[in-house]
Amino acid sequence: MFEISEKKKLAQDVYSVWVEAPKIAAHAQPGQFVIVIAEEDGERIPLTIVDKAEDKIRLIFQVVGKSTKKMATFENRDSFAHVVGPLGNPSEIEYYGTVLLIGGGIGVAPILPILKALKEKGNRVISIMGARTADLLILEDEFSQFSDKLIVTTDDGSKGIKGLVTDGMKKVVSDGEKIDKAWAIGPVIMMKFATKTAQELGFPIIVSLNPIMVDGTGMCGGCRVTVGDSVKFACVDGPEFEGELVGWDELLKRLGQYKVEEKESLEEKKK
Ligand code: FES
Repeated sequence: MFEISEKKKLAQDVYSVWVEAPKIAAHAQPGQFVIVIAEEDGERIPLTIVDKAEDKIRLIFQVVGKSTKKMATFENRDSFAHVVGPLGNPSEIEYYGTVLLIGGGIGVAPILPILKALKEKGNRVISIMGARTADLLILEDEFSQFSDKLIVTTDDGSKGIKGLVTDGMKKVVSDGEKIDKAWAIGPVIMMKFATKTAQELGFPIIVSLNPIMVDGTGMCGGCRVTVGDSVKFACVDGPEFEGELVGWDELLKRLGQYKVEEKESLEEKKK
């Protein structure tokens, strides 16, 4: 069970794997995720289900800490100790008209299944992929295959527009596109500013939050976020929320609290 196949390195420290998980594959819908545990007693890592086939699911992860570093050493035929899911609510896939899909960094991966599903519903799909540099861009072929228009932005200008995804958003609108709905997934700071830009440009935006998760069932409170006037749990109430309702600054502060522990844990693993 949970055997890995077709492991591929997509960019520095970013890997794609297919994982045998027939029950999850049978029920997974765009926007949903799994929690993987690489080894018994290992950390629980939430990962979006990027694609599925009859008996397997595709996951994409970036090495950011001890457990993902372990996962990067897995080869084809190795197995995860546990994969739990599908978790979370599916994306609301409907016909909206023209939709804008914005993925930043590794956030491009969870955007892909939403992009494909919106396209299948007949939407005109415009995508923006952002990365720090050209060699960190992932899934460009898939994005150009399913998008009616694709914009690439890089911080250093090594590919596409030199700038941030928010510059791409402004360009789309100044080119005359009327956006009916948008999705943004990526680093929290990126989603915060994508939301601000969408508000200025006048269209609604959905974001997918992936804070620290432990149980994935609404019991531990680890993934708590403030949305509007209420406290929500990203694992059971989300992971998608309306961007303008998210308490971004509180979320950024909470995520910052774990940075030191994460670095220490990675250093420990190197010894
Ligand atoms: Fe524990 Fe969401 S992961 S409440």
